[in-house]
Formats: sequence, C-alpha cells, structure tokens
Amino acid sequence: MPTPEQHADNWDLRHEDFNDNDFLYAVYSVMRRRDSFAHTDTPFLTPTPGGAWVAVRYQDCYSILQDWQHFSSNPTPEAAEKLAGDLVITLDPPRQQMFRKVLNPYFSPARMKALTPQIRWETDRLIDDFIESGTGDLAQVAWRQPGVVFFKYVLGMPVDDVPLCIDLTDDALNGPTEDARMAAWGGLYQHIHDAVSARIDAPPRDDMIDVLLAAEIDGEKLAFNDVVSNAMLLVQAGLETTASAMSFAFHYLGTHPEERDRLIREPDIMPRAVEELIRFGGSIHGIPRTVAKETELNGHRFCPGESVIVNYASANRDDAEFPDADRCVLDRQANRHLGFGSGVHRCLGSNLARLEFRIGIEQVLARLPDYTIASDSETVFHGNSVTRGFRRLPVLFSPGPQVAVDPESAANV
Ligand code: HEM
Repeated sequence: MPTPEQHADNWDLRHEDFNDNDFLYAVYSVMRRRDSFAHTDTPFLTPTPGGAWVAVRYQDCYSILQDWQHFSSNPTPEAAEKLAGDLVITLDPPRQQMFRKVLNPYFSPARMKALTPQIRWETDRLIDDFIESGTGDLAQVAWRQPGVVFFKYVLGMPVDDVPLCIDLTDDALNGPTEDARMAAWGGLYQHIHDAVSARIDAPPRDDMIDVLLAAEIDGEKLAFNDVVSNAMLLVQAGLETTASAMSFAFHYLGTHPEERDRLIREPDIMPRAVEELIRFGGSIHGIPRTVAKETELNGHRFCPGESVIVNYASANRDDAEFPDADRCVLDRQANRHLGFGSGVHRCLGSNLARLEFRIGIEQVLARLPDYTIASDSETVFHGNSVTRGFRRLPVLFSPGPQVAVDPESAANV
C-alpha cells in the first residue's frame, strides 16, 4: 500500500486506500505540510490534460474562493462539453449573481425555518420504521430525509414520484459503473423535464419549479433547458452533501457516547455543534476553478486554462486556522470553516442544509438517546469523487414507540 507521502505526490481521491477516511486526512496533512499547492494527474469533474493543482491550505483556498476574476467557475473546455445548460455553479458574476438573485429569496432563513415541522415529521417517520425493534440503520435516515424534504417541499415534485427520484439520484451519484450512473442521470433528467413541462400552464404553486419557470435574467425568461438543468443541479448539490454530512455526524456521535450524551445534556451548544460537525465531517473534498488570467498566489504562478481544485475538507483540517484541527470540539468557538464554501458561490442551500442536519440529529438524540454503532466493522463508508459519507450505519438502542404525526392533520384537529 502506498505511503501517505506517495499518495501526496499525486492525489487521486478515487483511490481505494481512501475508503479509510483517517488515512485520507493523513495524506492531506502531508500535502499541507509540503507546499501550498499539491497536484493530481486525475482530476475529477474537470478532465483537464496535464491534471490539476490542488489547494489544500485554508488561507489559499479562501483566497481562491474570493478571487473569481482570476479563478473562474467556468469549466475547462473538456468539462464544458458535458454540461446540459447554463448552471449557477459554473457561471461567473455578473450572470451568476443574477441567478442568485432569483434563487436566494427562496432559500432565505425565514422561508427554510417555516419548514421545521415538516422536516421533523419526515425525520420521525423514517425513525418510526425501526424504533420499535431496538436495531436499525441510521444511514437510511441520513440518506432519505434530505431527499424527501427536497423533492416534496422545495422542488415541488409530485409526492408519488419522490421515492423514484431519490432512487434515481442515488444511482446517478453512486451507481456501480459509469454507464449505470449515466442511465440514472438520463432517467432523472427525463423525470424532472416531464414534471417541469406539466407545470408550464398549471396554476402557480410557489415552489422551486415555479421560481425557475418565472425567473427573468437580463430581461429574458430562462430557457426551458436551463430550468431543468438548474433543478438537476439543486438535486445534485443538495442531497448527497447533506446526507454525507449527517451520516458522518451519526457515526461520530454513535462512536463517542460521551459526546452524544453531552449534546443531549447541553442542547444550547447545538448551533456550534452543527458547524463543527460539518467542518470535521468534510462532506465535500473538492470543486474546481479554471485560471482565467495569469496570477500569482503564495509564490505559485498560475497560467490561463489551468485547473485548480479547492479542497474544502483539507482546508477545514488546517491547524493554522483551527487549533487542534483533527479533533471534533462540539462547542468550538471561532469556526470560519469552508464547509459551505466562501465568496460568490457560497452554498445557496446552507440554511436548508443546516436545518435538515440539526433536526436529523435532534430527533435521533431525542428518540434513540442511548444509540451506539452496533459494530464498526459492519458500517459501510463510501466516497465518490466529490462527497464522502456512510452508506450503512447499523445501530443498537433501547426500543421506543412510533410517534410521527402529520403536522397538517395536527393543525386541523
Ligand atoms: C451539508 C450540506 C451541504 C454542503 C456541505 C454544501 C457545500 C457547498 C459548497 C462547498 C459550495 C460551493 C461550491 C463552489 O465553491 O463552487 C456549495 C454551493 C452550492 N450549494 Fe451547497 N452544500 C450543502 C447543501 C446544499 C443544499 C441543501 C442545497 C440546495 C438544495 C445546495 C445547493 C447549492 C448550490 C445551488 C450551490 C452553487 C451556488 C453558486 O454557484 O452560486 N447545497 N455548496
């Protein structure tokens, strides 16, 4: 097995050695110690001839994310070929800001907070599936909850389609082969395409599909293809990221009972704990930028056309920014983590993600307060080329009763 130093010479996130997450972080530590910028011959998302630079230190990642004039989100020409439409995440200002202006109000803290009862209910329903037996798989809660919430309450897909959309998304992101993943993307695209078509002449319903259909950018309505593509982007950006982070938190608390008990005893630290678990879990390991104009950063000269991957997970474990960075400190005080990025592309869905994440943890701690991971050897950890999290988390706990009450029927009583 290659040493951390050998892996650091040519970082390949898809390498099987990195199924051991601690080993991956040991490699990041070598990369950060050596130099500001590491290199990979096998960049993901941007198949660039000659590979890509990898920013691994906090300050460099932060500087790149602030400087969109030199470090553009436009893909390399090779990667652009694969894109179906004009996506907020692959545009630069000013057009990117126009997309944000349309989408931001929909994801405001107040609007997301109003979804609290529904998210709690959906989480409880998932826990109800196994609460009476004393054993269960918490990865099911982590993976299903963000999908149900997103498709049902945010995007506005027909409720009956939700299970199929979640399965297609999962296959698209994690299918065993490139062909299987592409087929699932095709299926999901078609499904969202049909749902959007059906809404064109339907009465407005104030959901994300309506927001995108009504959006005007530069005085023009979005092309139909862009509506479908941005809906797909939201699916891609919002589900696996939140699911991975939540699964990581469930694993951490299930393997650190004293920390689990502390969070139950001291609910006031929950907002800090959410940030810290997101920093520590590091669900996203890299999104690329393309060098638009020659520039120098920390003694390194970047040339136009080169690709640079911003490694948020490595930046979030940089001791120069976070004292004792490899330790999860639930009430960490200063925590300017890059888990949700920074600069103009800062995560659009962070308010929703935080809410889903917090409620997921709250409901699990409230209903399975003594849960532990049944056996660490039975957990399954999965990393794809962008995000990483647990796909199977068998847990043991004292059985409890089912409780889920539909917030709408409760309101009508
Ligand atoms: C814990 C969960 C999440 C994490 C860790 C996360 C992380 C990130 C990061 C690091 C970026 C910056 C990308 C860049 O710099 O190019 C980003 C952007 C984005 N995120 Fe999230 N995200 C999460 C949840 C969500 C959710 C729930 C949604 C929506 C439903 C969402 C939608 C987006 C979108 C649309 C962008 C692109 C924004 C732009 O380009 O202006 N994310 N996210």
